[in-house]
Amino acid sequence: MPGQPSTDRPTLRMCVNFRAGDKLPSCAARGSREMVAALSAGIEARGLPFEVELVHCMTKCHLGPTVRVLPEGPWIMGMQVADVPRALDLLEAGKVEELAAAFPLPTDDPDAGG
Ligand code: FES
Repeated sequence: MPGQPSTDRPTLRMCVNFRAGDKLPSCAARGSREMVAALSAGIEARGLPFEVELVHCMTKCHLGPTVRVLPEGPWIMGMQVADVPRALDLLEAGKVEELAAAFPLPTDDPDAGG
């Protein structure tokens, strides 16, 4: 089913898209590829129980890098590579909501409630 993770483990769905060859706002233009590489490496190195799924656009291009915790978890918006050590500490501690609160989806976004 579209939008559903393929495993029972929590999934970090992360956008690595350059839109229009970097001519439009996008997660990759805002640093997602570097952040995703560091976060993925850290998850593996620490043995954290998260799947990583790379996607091309979740329609929040101007707010990215865009990450969503699945299933039905929060959005994590605008995290940069320099934030990854802190993010890994929070993920390791099971504090996903705290991580999302540090990088919130703007409350006026239509998806903010879901
Ligand atoms: S380019 Fe990442 S959400 Fe659109």
